[in-house]
Amino acid sequence: MAVQQQTGKRAHWGSKMGFILAAAGSAVGLGNIWKFPYVTGENGGGLFVIICVACVFLVGIPIMAAEILIGRRGQGSPITAYENLRGNKSLWKLLGWVGVVAGFIILSYYVVVAGWTLDYLFKAITGAFWAVETDQIPPMFDTLYASAFWNVLWMVVFMAFTIGVVIGGVQAGIERWNGVLMPGLFLMLIGLLIYATTLDGFGEAMRFVFYPDLSRFKGTSSVLAAVGQAFFSLSLGMGAMLTYGSYLKKDSDILRSAAIISVLDIIVALMAACILFPVIFTFGFEPSAGPGLVFKTLPVIFAQLPGGQLVAIVFFLLLIFAAVTSSVSLLEVVGSTVMERLGWGRRPAVLASGLVIAIFGLLSALSGSTLSGVKLLGDRSIFDSFDFLAAELMLPLGGIGIAVFAGWVLQKKETKDEFDQGSKSPQLFPFWRVLVQFVAPAAVALVFVQTILSLFSGSDVVH
Ligand code: TRP
Repeated sequence: MAVQQQTGKRAHWGSKMGFILAAAGSAVGLGNIWKFPYVTGENGGGLFVIICVACVFLVGIPIMAAEILIGRRGQGSPITAYENLRGNKSLWKLLGWVGVVAGFIILSYYVVVAGWTLDYLFKAITGAFWAVETDQIPPMFDTLYASAFWNVLWMVVFMAFTIGVVIGGVQAGIERWNGVLMPGLFLMLIGLLIYATTLDGFGEAMRFVFYPDLSRFKGTSSVLAAVGQAFFSLSLGMGAMLTYGSYLKKDSDILRSAAIISVLDIIVALMAACILFPVIFTFGFEPSAGPGLVFKTLPVIFAQLPGGQLVAIVFFLLLIFAAVTSSVSLLEVVGSTVMERLGWGRRPAVLASGLVIAIFGLLSALSGSTLSGVKLLGDRSIFDSFDFLAAELMLPLGGIGIAVFAGWVLQKKETKDEFDQGSKSPQLFPFWRVLVQFVAPAAVALVFVQTILSLFSGSDVVH
């Protein structure tokens, strides 16, 4: 197996900016624009947002830097990287395996949600929301979810596009597409934000999102939800940042990159909240509507807004851009693993990975229709079970593993050496190391224990 010797010819990002955009593209996704606003709504706004930001700084940035560091030091996709660092027989390889399996599972349902955004863009373009009475708009989502045909079709279309990008390779595929889609995403966000400031509900929304109101706060479950949200949103815990880090040149500053990527991720999440809540408050909807916020509530509002069709098209396009750059990073983890472990070329490896994941994704795509009677974990549908298993069990577990590996298993000298290469602030090393050794793993362990407990008590952690 050509595992150890690929160091010299390993692909690299073309520029530092290329890496930042690609990694930010991985982080910024449905987690920011679809999930963050509705989880914020469910958890009462203000204080929850502040805790999320704190989580990003105390847990997110340190672990992201750890992942990038492991990838750049280990020169490989997850399994190979741990093997390169601690040998063939090391049990740490298992951490790589957990990551690849988590990536496989996440991508298999992520493409289904991404498929819904395609369907909604299509509806916005064809004017479907304007052709019916507004009370018929929310049920459109239930109809879509219950349609085997449309779920599978859109999933396949989205997966085909993801495969197309990843097959292009690190520079000509991933970096190039992110270089177009990410600036496009920012432009659209800014446009929508300006639009949102003109709405009557803008002031009330700002107060909801930024003012810490203790009376609306839900306590411990919200703290845990914030850690979980930070993890998923920053693409941490399964080796996506590790794999992207393995393509990073030695002259890049790891901690600084992790900080920039994470701050971009928060900014986008906050912008999404500042776009959605003004719309919601202006039209008197409930901020705590849950996962249906984007697909059920928003189109009702778009249908009544002046110029709503254009806003709707831009909004769903935005979601699609965000979803593509994230799904690409998930497929790259699985695809590059197949390349390295089986010695395959990029094209067959990515094509085969994408196909197998799409076939597996049929389970999620059909979980609202053909397979709607099937319940897996607890009382969860197939779709919810995969989300729970990967995002709430495997990612935190992987995150703890990554922190422990970077903080305790790698020698301090080894870590310091890698950290310092390209670093403009080597004096931050001890500070970062304390966060990775103690603060981050402890905080994540807390979430993990809580998640396990909720499995037994049968109640759900708020996410
Ligand atoms: N971060 C992305 C989002 O917010 C999703 C994602 C991409 C992800 N790659 C990941 C989540 C790796 C966890 C692990 O939508």
